[in-house]
Amino acid sequence: MPTPIWMSPETTSVNRLPMLNIGHLMSISLDGRWDFQLLSNPNQEIGRRDHWDSIDVPGLWTMVNGQQPFDDKPIYTNVQMPFAQLPPTVPQENPTGVYQREFSLPTSWKNKRVVLSIGGFESVAILSINGQEVGVAKDSRLASEFDITDFLNNGSNRVEIKVIKWSDSTFIEDQDQWWHGGITRSVKLFATEHVFIERLYATPGLEANNKVGTLNVRAQINSINEADIANYKLRVRVLGIKSADVTATVINRKAPQWTEKSAAEKQAGDDYFLGTFWDGNIPKPNYEAWLATEPVIPGPLELSIRIPGVSPWSAESPTLYDVEYELIDPSGQVIEVTSQKVGFRSVEIDGNELLVNGQPVIIYGINRHDFNRQTGRVLSRDHMRQDLLELKRWNFNAVRTSHYPNDPAFLDLCDELGFYVVGEAIIESHAFQNTLCNDQKYLNAWVDRVARMIQRDIHHASVILWSLGNESGAGLNHRAAAAYARYFDPSRPLHYEGAIRGNWTANYDLTDVVCPMYPDISAIISYAKSKKADRPLIMCEYTHAMGNSNGTLAEYWEAIHTLPGLQGGFIWEMWDHGLDQTLEDGTVRSAYGGDYGETKHDGNFVCDGMFFPDRTPKPALQEFKYIASPITITAKNLKTGKFEIFNKNFFVDLRDVKLRYEVTVNGKVTSTADVKLPAVKPRKKALFSLPANALKADSNAGERFVNFSLVLATSTPWAHLGHEVAWQQIALPSKPLPKAKLAKKAQEYVNAEGAIILPFGEVAPRLTLWRAPTDNDAIGHIASKWETWGLRNIRRDSSTVSRKGGITKITHSWKTSAGITIKHIQTVESVESGLRVTDEVTLPKQLDDVARVGINFELHGDLNQLTYFGTGPSETMPDRAIGKVHRWNSTVAQQYVPYVKPQENGGHVGVRWFTLTNQTNRGLYFQLDKPRMVTITPMRSTDLADATHNVFVQPSGNTVVTIDAIHRGVGTASCGPDTLAKYRIKPGTYKWSWTVLTF
Ligand code: GAL
Ligand code: MG
Repeated sequence: MPTPIWMSPETTSVNRLPMLNIGHLMSISLDGRWDFQLLSNPNQEIGRRDHWDSIDVPGLWTMVNGQQPFDDKPIYTNVQMPFAQLPPTVPQENPTGVYQREFSLPTSWKNKRVVLSIGGFESVAILSINGQEVGVAKDSRLASEFDITDFLNNGSNRVEIKVIKWSDSTFIEDQDQWWHGGITRSVKLFATEHVFIERLYATPGLEANNKVGTLNVRAQINSINEADIANYKLRVRVLGIKSADVTATVINRKAPQWTEKSAAEKQAGDDYFLGTFWDGNIPKPNYEAWLATEPVIPGPLELSIRIPGVSPWSAESPTLYDVEYELIDPSGQVIEVTSQKVGFRSVEIDGNELLVNGQPVIIYGINRHDFNRQTGRVLSRDHMRQDLLELKRWNFNAVRTSHYPNDPAFLDLCDELGFYVVGEAIIESHAFQNTLCNDQKYLNAWVDRVARMIQRDIHHASVILWSLGNESGAGLNHRAAAAYARYFDPSRPLHYEGAIRGNWTANYDLTDVVCPMYPDISAIISYAKSKKADRPLIMCEYTHAMGNSNGTLAEYWEAIHTLPGLQGGFIWEMWDHGLDQTLEDGTVRSAYGGDYGETKHDGNFVCDGMFFPDRTPKPALQEFKYIASPITITAKNLKTGKFEIFNKNFFVDLRDVKLRYEVTVNGKVTSTADVKLPAVKPRKKALFSLPANALKADSNAGERFVNFSLVLATSTPWAHLGHEVAWQQIALPSKPLPKAKLAKKAQEYVNAEGAIILPFGEVAPRLTLWRAPTDNDAIGHIASKWETWGLRNIRRDSSTVSRKGGITKITHSWKTSAGITIKHIQTVESVESGLRVTDEVTLPKQLDDVARVGINFELHGDLNQLTYFGTGPSETMPDRAIGKVHRWNSTVAQQYVPYVKPQENGGHVGVRWFTLTNQTNRGLYFQLDKPRMVTITPMRSTDLADATHNVFVQPSGNTVVTIDAIHRGVGTASCGPDTLAKYRIKPGTYKWSWTVLTF
């Protein structure tokens, strides 16, 4: 038996047409309902006609609108393969979907050449028409097209696409993702004449002066049925620009046999051949005379256009031009028309800087997988557009298409909306990362995948770097692929993390940027300062957004914004890939690894995005948006109201935005007005002033801030007028709020057991050193220390109460479940309308990395309205602390952040005071001794820790309050560095106090 094609990596396709990415006027979508059958292996016979089910195309059989109606389910693994076989062998049991449908062609397509295009499938597709096999394709994320002209009947035709799930390709499509099966992108037909555009590669560029656009077009005209293509012309025009109109003609030149050559023809050849001009200085006429003796394959054409006075394309100002292509027959008739949008821009590397249009742009990037919680990886254009609009609104300017080419529509949208893109080839051999890249059986696949991606996407202004793939080592096959990329598209540098893993000074042939994943901040700083830094550093992945994470983002950016050669990076990643899964009782949960019964899986590591599965933003975006904002404002003189604004943009001024300011006292706005912005050129600073007296203090007590808000002055394709793109807050001199006075008549708040009885109290204040482990805590082995120390359950061992002069002192001794003793003193005083508690806790030496030192209590659940004066409105954490200090209102329930796998959430750092109120406007006012982290939610940390999915967390019924003296940073240790030492909690004594007043 010959080796089946799905286990033959050398064969990347059979009968597939060259990559072509243009629109066709004669085109018919085959999307919609298809007949479907799922076989248990590729050799199984297709069942009888009446056993067919139906399915949508595009559509995965593993994920049909949140359901698994067929006998194969999603599987999630990260590095490990889902089966034990070694490449290129796959299991016998190998789900195989057979998609069939009828179609008939319009009469106008009679005598046309007909092509069938499959946009994407996982992982092998075998195409048959009317029962005859047409061809085979591999590469899950680039379209495969087949000429089906000779297979068609008059009238109705039956198409079959057989999709085999596991194949030799699976080993190089081993991304950290769900494994699915099926057709992921559109299927269509298009028709051409017998002479047609077979390939078209347009490369836009921009000359060094940033004024002259260039367009180089390489095309190939071809024909079927041996139709003569000589004298067909290709006309290329940039619409709206007079001189940008060029035409090239297909020539067909026969050449004399060498025995027939004239003396002059022989001489021309000898001139070239004998080394007469070994130094390359052959005169042009001699060279041309020699060329004329060579036959040519008709068809390839190359055209170039120069366009003076273009508006360059950049992510900040994505100007596009329409290019029209016409194929003209020798009689002058246009037989094919198509168009592309191109933007003119340059990309180059100069020393340790990556320059776009000559500027060392900063990459505020994110990694994005194709994802939809209902359909897995099947997306509409509208989904993609919504993703990009959302990213734009959060100030992202770059996307790495991790880890494969996206739908062509995605790059169209990036061109249009303005994103810098790293276009990544679909190569990831993670489970065998250092071996497959040297296995020459896979050589074709490596080169094919990189080559076809570049051929498809070369015209996109948005793509600034080609990536050779992800996590596949650095081997022979990479070298071949890189050589292709460099020769075919010298206009873009290469990006490949595998080339520099472990050594940022290696493999210059494979990457032009140092693009590490998850480096320590100290490492990128050390690189930037080193003499060895001769390539720009752009992190291909950093700040792993799994759960409550992204600690120390600001420190990364402090380094990037100040050190030349550090140009940003791509956050890992956009999505929490929780799939909708309906349980027997009707509950819909976000499923992760293991939830479909897989035994080999990697749990919730698939939920590590900045957006929840339904695309709602996670709190960490608040911090990113601030950091990536287009301006910064600093105070120059608070007395005279002078400030300096810096325009961080590289290409645009601030004409399209408006600045407003407001002054707040204790979180209340006391004045607000527009600011007249001076003209600020890109990368320049300018001074501006607020009206005289605007910042003058009035008699009100409370912290004062001036808040600036930069909003869009006009609507853009991605946000409406008024959308806030940046804010900045600057503290002003203030008068402190009055402290509660000691009560004239002391009241007793402490019971005989030494517990403090709070008004509206349900559970008395108790010490806490623990939090519901975040994913970083768990995977980073931080929470395991807490477990060893027994921090989750600390019990009061003894409490002694003493009273003196209206002050009650309680001395507690707490014991962890592992027997560690912690001393805790509480001092309680009566104040007017309430009490003040001062806590003092001494952490023994052994406890050198606790989650928090805090006081936790529960109040009546009807105190469900929260107002706090602190950082918000989203959750902040000590090492992700950016938030406007303001008076924020919310229900207590809204404080809950539904991380897919529940963990500590909802905290706010920098809280000065807060109130909790019931429906009748009665409640409690808490004042803190200094800005502290406070967490107020309906959930207990223990309930969070015990729940596997957010839908299973039960609110406690109470309002649960934790006031921390100190709280540990979250870091990113689930993949990458833990938080910095300054955000960890050292042993020692912590003292804090809080006042509670009733109203
Ligand atoms: C990287 C990898 C990503 C993802 C991430 C962790 O190593 O490139 O695909 O696995 O880590 O979430
Ligand atoms: Mg991987």
